[in-house]
Amino acid sequence: MSNLHVDVFSMEHAAALDAACPLRHLREQFLIPTKADLTTTAFLELEAERQQSDDESSSIYLCGNSLGLQPRLTSVRLQQYLTTWQTQGVYGHFKPLNQSPLPVWLHADEEAARRIAPIVGAPVSEVAVMETLTANLHFLIAAFYRPDISGRHKIILESKAFPSDHYVVESQIYHHNLSPATSMITIDPATSSEAIISTAHILAIIAEHASTTALLLLPGIQFYSGQLLNIPTITAAARKAGIFVIWDLAHAVGNVPLQLHDWNVDAAAWCSYKYLNAGPGAIGGLFIHERNGGVSPTPESGDRGFTNRLSGWWGSDKSTRFTMDNKFVPIPGAAGFQLSNPSILDITSLNASLQVFEMAGGMVPLREKSLRLTEFLETGLDGLDGKPFRIITPREKGGRGAQLSLRLEDGLLDDVMKRLVELGVVVDERRPDVVRVAPAPLYNSYTDVWRFVNAFEDALDFAVERTRKS
Ligand SMILES: Cc1ncc(COP(=O)(O)O)c(C=O)c1O
Repeated sequence: MSNLHVDVFSMEHAAALDAACPLRHLREQFLIPTKADLTTTAFLELEAERQQSDDESSSIYLCGNSLGLQPRLTSVRLQQYLTTWQTQGVYGHFKPLNQSPLPVWLHADEEAARRIAPIVGAPVSEVAVMETLTANLHFLIAAFYRPDISGRHKIILESKAFPSDHYVVESQIYHHNLSPATSMITIDPATSSEAIISTAHILAIIAEHASTTALLLLPGIQFYSGQLLNIPTITAAARKAGIFVIWDLAHAVGNVPLQLHDWNVDAAAWCSYKYLNAGPGAIGGLFIHERNGGVSPTPESGDRGFTNRLSGWWGSDKSTRFTMDNKFVPIPGAAGFQLSNPSILDITSLNASLQVFEMAGGMVPLREKSLRLTEFLETGLDGLDGKPFRIITPREKGGRGAQLSLRLEDGLLDDVMKRLVELGVVVDERRPDVVRVAPAPLYNSYTDVWRFVNAFEDALDFAVERTRKS
């Protein structure tokens, strides 16, 4: 590191930034694994009252893009849920309990929708907390993809889409007896060495296939490169071309502010185990714009008055849900796309973590901190002059979320990751050569970032040395 750089990127500077950070108290709301936790192979007893570990003993956890950390409130709320189940049995579905911080189970999904709505920028009626991300993409496409081989039948997605999204699209196309060879259009980055896809390039592909495309599926933030796509511009262009637009918000939700309603997005789906911190595999969610989820009280003859969807009883009108008369009366809006009664265990966990977002004051202050934190990371990395890596995430702040993706020179990844693990750093790798680093503003500090950059420099030197010797 150069001397000049040490001044702007020093431990003292990091500590001063932490001291001045208005969200610094939120770190205490989370359980951060210690380095010892991560090296032990013994099962550790649950310590709900665990003390906050200090900077020396805690790991440097910058992996909220993969799995967010556990809020302290989660185990409290889950225990309350278990107590309700234990003491009330089936009554827990509908019997309100004085002083309980939990909703009755019959309304738990509504409470979760109410809490998530401001995070995605939508009225509650356009949001449902349900199922999981891949399943929700399938449900959305099942409802809104009506291909016509002599008209609109194509689905556009990126060539480096997350594998699950690729499989969803491919299988939906086969499901309609069509072939991906003719009905699936993939968008490549401009050159093979580039990870970023420009908005202009996406718009050009949309224009090229405008009259034959039925649906566009893109990620809000690309999982590999960390690129934040221009959701409003791309949505507007695709909709103008008559294309239904779905966004996969796995890496965007809880990371960047979203305005799905105002951006006129048709539909979107997300998971809640990354920046939303609801726990591994926890319940996901979806957004459906009001124009797509409406239910007409006076349908024209021969019309059911709503878009057909793969339905289940939880999407049917609450007041008649238990009459068991087999008449599907969809709840207007996104809630009408629900299928099963949701896992209350999951929803309790999600509601607990969304309460921490409320403590933060929502996405605007979080994004403010996130921009600064990621910029601090960028400054630190830029100071590692001549080291064998480069940042492939857009340098422009508006073009990224919390994550920076670092592309290493060939052959270094395994040794870099090995050394980072030894140093108590938790980040993840995406083969063949990328390390993803994501400071989450809810629980990461500037000091975490400073510690990471030092560890990363050490890991790069270690890996280069090993390559030289081999
Ligand atoms: C961009 C993206 N899409 C889809 C998925 C699949 O999510 P799930 O396993 O919850 O269906 C993931 C998982 O990490 C993802 O990152």
